[in-house]
Amino acid sequence: MTPHSPAPGGTAALGTHTVARVGYGAMQLERLREDRPAAVALLRRARELGVNHIDTAQFYGFGFVNEVIREAFGDSEDVVVVSKVGATPDPGGPLPLRLAQRPAELRASVEDNLRSLGRERLDVVNLRRADSGPGLRAEGEQVVPLDDQLAVMTALRDEGKIGAIGMSGVTAGILRRALPAGIVCVQNAYSLVGRDDEDVLALCAAEGIAWVPYFPLGGAFPGLPKVSGEAAALRIAEELGATVSQVGLAWLLLHYADTLLIPGTASAAHLEENTAAGSLALDGTAMTALDAIRSRSTDVGIG
Ligand SMILES: NC(=O)c1ccc[n+]([C@@H]2O[C@H](COP(=O)([O-])OP(=O)(O)OC[C@H]3O[C@@H](n4cnc5c(N)ncnc54)[C@H](OP(=O)(O)O)[C@@H]3O)[C@@H](O)[C@H]2O)c1
Repeated sequence: MTPHSPAPGGTAALGTHTVARVGYGAMQLERLREDRPAAVALLRRARELGVNHIDTAQFYGFGFVNEVIREAFGDSEDVVVVSKVGATPDPGGPLPLRLAQRPAELRASVEDNLRSLGRERLDVVNLRRADSGPGLRAEGEQVVPLDDQLAVMTALRDEGKIGAIGMSGVTAGILRRALPAGIVCVQNAYSLVGRDDEDVLALCAAEGIAWVPYFPLGGAFPGLPKVSGEAAALRIAEELGATVSQVGLAWLLLHYADTLLIPGTASAAHLEENTAAGSLALDGTAMTALDAIRSRSTDVGIG
């Protein structure tokens, strides 16, 4: 077995797990559907680089992404795999996913993930709501009381099918109501240039909950604010001999100590770059300049 590099960015807690602060978001792997060996190789390279926290979902590539995670790592406890429920694949739909918020759908989605990942237990599962951030909003029968959802999530945890519960796409109000269920992480859209959910982050900080920003670089969808288009970040990157993506990721790591990064990429070069961001030092002057960047809204339609 290839030895691993030290954890990029150091380590932090994710529930009962200790993970490298730079992890990997696997959504972009769906672009490698026609080159499965490359997808498996990218995941294994991430592990070699010290990454041991992978974010996924059944609806990424309609199961393809979970299957390549299974092929790359089997059911090894060496890699913490985090999935999400609340949406389900929708091949042929206007978007590749549709909301699936009802308790029976949450349970079915956990079962789908267990099957495709080949695991007896999912380390962490995020209840992906649709209260905040870009994308779909719940309508009609998809508007489900939070307590009903938490009841099934805690039952799944009691049954040992999931190790811990996280939340995604939530407002501070929803997160506060969910806290008694024991929430270990929150995944909301957030980056250097899109900081709508600062109040959710503040609540995570007060409660010691891991903050796992999705779209940490601004995502791949058009219309979302991109770190790469930010002049102040580009200037600092040039001064440091780093890339603008590395500056954006390093800012996130310094902004809140319990941040865990899950940047997504289908490129081995970008993967190396993103993990190396874990050791990029930003001094006080750089942080002040980056803190002053104007945040733009991430509350936009995508797809
Ligand atoms: N909870 C939720 O509802 C939710 C929603 C969306 C995403 N997520 C998770 O969050 C993860 C991260 O989000 P994301 O992948 O959509 O967005 P992201 O990490 O902000 O950005 C990904 C985009 O940036 C590019 N990129 C990555 N590294 C780069 C680098 N070093 N230099 C230049 N470009 C770079 C990627 O292209 P290349 O492939 O060419 O590098 C891709 O186009 C996802 O993978 C997924 O696991 C969760």
